[in-house]
Amino acid sequence: MQRESLLNPGSTIGIIGGGQLGRMLAIAARQMDYKTVVLDPDPNCPTSQVADGQIAEAYASRDASRQLARSTDVVTYEFENVDADSVSAAAELKPVHPSPSVLRTAQHRLHEKTALLKAGIPVAPFRNVESLNDLKSAADALGFPMVLKTSTQGYDGKGQVMITRAEDIEHSYELLSKRRTELIVEQFVPFKMEISTICARTADGKTATFPPSENIHRNHILDVSIVPARIDEGVIENARLLAADIAVQLDVVGLISVEMFVTKENEILVNELAPRPHNSGHYTMDGCDTSQFEQLVRVLAGMPIAEPKLHSPTVMVNLLGEVWEDTDGDPDWERALELPGVSLHLYGKSEARVGRKMGHINVVADTVEDALYIATEARDRAWRRSRA
Ligand SMILES: Nc1ncnc2c1ncn2[C@@H]1O[C@H](COP(=O)(O)OP(=O)(O)O)[C@@H](O)[C@H]1O
Ligand SMILES: [Mg+2]
Repeated sequence: MQRESLLNPGSTIGIIGGGQLGRMLAIAARQMDYKTVVLDPDPNCPTSQVADGQIAEAYASRDASRQLARSTDVVTYEFENVDADSVSAAAELKPVHPSPSVLRTAQHRLHEKTALLKAGIPVAPFRNVESLNDLKSAADALGFPMVLKTSTQGYDGKGQVMITRAEDIEHSYELLSKRRTELIVEQFVPFKMEISTICARTADGKTATFPPSENIHRNHILDVSIVPARIDEGVIENARLLAADIAVQLDVVGLISVEMFVTKENEILVNELAPRPHNSGHYTMDGCDTSQFEQLVRVLAGMPIAEPKLHSPTVMVNLLGEVWEDTDGDPDWERALELPGVSLHLYGKSEARVGRKMGHINVVADTVEDALYIATEARDRAWRRSRA
C-alpha cells in the first residue's frame, strides 16, 4: 500500500521563487523525473530556464500561489522574503514544506531568535527595538559593539549596521528605522569562525545533517565555503546536533539551514536560520554523495532521505557579478577549467551586477588545503586576475 504522502517520479513540485536555488532544485528534481513549476514574475529567471512550467506572477499574489498549488503535488519556496500569506494560501490546497509557520518564524529575526531561545538553543544576547530609547537601554545591557538589524527583508548584510559607540546610536537608529520594519539589536560576537550546516527532516521525523562548512564572507556576502571546517571534531559534531535539534523543535519538514558563530572557547551561537537550501551548501553538489537539492526533492516526495557523506575535501567559491564586470562579460572559463577537480555551476542570469550571485565553482581535492588553493586560483583565472 502506498503512503498518502508518497509522490512517485512523474509528480510535480511547485517552487515559489525562481532564483538559483530553485534552478538547482529543479535540476535535481528532473534527475529523478519529478516535474517542476516555478512561480516567479520574471519569464527568464534562472529556474524557469530548467523548470517544466512557470506562473509568471508576483510572489505576493494569492491567486498565483493557489494556481501553483493546483498545478502541482507539493509546494516549497526558495527564499524567505516571500509573502507568508500567499504561501499559506497554497497550503490550503496542497502540502507546503517547510510549513508556513516555519517560514513565518524564519523570515522575522525577532521571532526567530525568540523561538531559538525558547527551544534552549544558544544565541547572542539580543533586544527588541521599537524606539530610540529601547536602543539606548539595549546598549546599557549588551555593551559595544552591537549590531542593529531590520527584523525582516535583510539578506547579504543588507539592513544592518554595527554600532561601536554611544555617539552613533541615534544616527544608526535613524538609518534603519527608515526601512519601516521592526528592528532587533544583538551583541557583537567576536567569533573565530562562522560555520553552517543543513539538516533535512522528513514528514515522519527522520533527520540527516550535512557536514558543516566553514564560511568566509566578503562585504557581508558569502565568498568561500570550506569543508571539512578547519575546527575541532567536537565542534563539528555539536553543530550537527544543534541543527537537528532545531529541525525537530521547529517541526521542520524539508531543509533547515543553520548559520552559526564559533567563539574562541569553541562555543556555538546560532546566528540565523533559512528554511531552504543554502549558498553554503552548494559544495554538497560535488563533495557529497547526495546534494542538498536532491535531499530536498526526496523530502518533498516523501521518499527516504540519505545520510549524506563527504567523499572528499571540497571548497566552494562564489562567482559574483564583479567577475563579469571586470572581464567585459568574458570570464576565462577555459583556464579555470584546466585545473583539476573543478566544477563550474552557472545560474543563467543575463545581467551581471556587482554583488549579484551569478554562479559558483566547486573544487574537490585530496586535502582541504589543495581544494582551497585550486578554488581560489580557478576563480582568479576566470576573473583574469591570475599572475600565473
Ligand atoms: N551579532 C553579530 N556578531 C558578529 N557578526 C555578525 C553578527 N550579526 C551578523 N554578523 C555578520 O554579518 C553577517 C550577515 O549577518 P546575518 O545576520 O547572517 O544577516 P544576512 O545573512 O541575512 O544578511 C554574518 O554572517 C556575520 O558575518
Ligand atoms: Mg546570514
